[in-house]
Amino acid sequence: MAVKNIMVVGAGQMGSGIAQVAAQAGYSVVLHDISDDLVQKGLSGIRKQLDKAVSKGKLEEADKDGALDRIQTTTSLESVKDRDLVVEAVVENMDIKAKVFGELDKNAPSSAILATNTSSLPITRIGATTNRPSQVIGMHFMNPVPVMKLVEVINGLATSPEVTATVKEVAEQLGKVPVECRDVPGFVSNRVLMVMINEAIWELYEGVASVEGIDSIMKMGMNHPMGPLALADLIGLDTVLAILNVMLEGYNDPKYRPSPLLRSYVDAGWLGRKSGRGFYSYE
Ligand code: CAA
Repeated sequence: MAVKNIMVVGAGQMGSGIAQVAAQAGYSVVLHDISDDLVQKGLSGIRKQLDKAVSKGKLEEADKDGALDRIQTTTSLESVKDRDLVVEAVVENMDIKAKVFGELDKNAPSSAILATNTSSLPITRIGATTNRPSQVIGMHFMNPVPVMKLVEVINGLATSPEVTATVKEVAEQLGKVPVECRDVPGFVSNRVLMVMINEAIWELYEGVASVEGIDSIMKMGMNHPMGPLALADLIGLDTVLAILNVMLEGYNDPKYRPSPLLRSYVDAGWLGRKSGRGFYSYE
């Protein structure tokens, strides 16, 4: 199936990044969020990123304008009616995703693929909320989307091989490298990454080293581009907690038990970069 028209549902950090790379790759993109304020905030973030690329000489002004022209905005999920592929990037909450997928399934063309950028929720369960589970798949982008090469492609139990092939092709068109995996809690990426981040937070909780100390050790010692605590701030501490909880429940194994310090930070609203404060301050 040839994908030409894409809809991105959720104009936050991930959704706007996905919309940006899709528009830059020449796709017609509809960017959705629940309010005009949110969708315009997403669009202005994209404009800022593209302006930055132009000022660095990495993008032609005309290509920036072309990409922006290819993005339409909407607050109605009915705008899915002429789309070939949807990438959902709303909050990591199963009830909300089920509602969104129900609406998309009702309004999308019967041939459309419904992909989710979920970082840990079961693809099979999301697929089962629709009447087209064979056309539901995980398309997991990494943050920051314009920079990171990987798209983790997660096949639900019912996902058809044709849908997997199409989604891999689109990922390649976006300049990404798709890598397939099975639908297990946390998939491959977060099952490894979140255990590392959680362990760093336990270390901080136990006073093993300071925030800077832990991050410096992991950056210099392991050649990681950023330390685990800075990375947690980038991802969002609420998202880190949500993913750990999904794995704790999914495997019923205490090795995924979130550090109490992580819970406290989330309770305090210290969610990382997006809230101005996490393990570091972004004022
Ligand atoms: N959006 C777009 N571009 C960005 C960006 C953003 N948010 N942040 C940085 N960049 C670009 C910069 O503009 C810069 O571009 P140029 O090379 O063209 O100048 C380039 O990335 C490098 O940025 P910096 O020089 O500012 O800083 P850096 O070298 O430290 O790189 C980084 C920043 C790319 C974020 C790097 O630190 C990194 O790779 N960190 C690890 C990120 C990571 O692990 N992501 C996965 C998170 S897990 C996930 O997303 C999945 C999940 O489900 C939770």
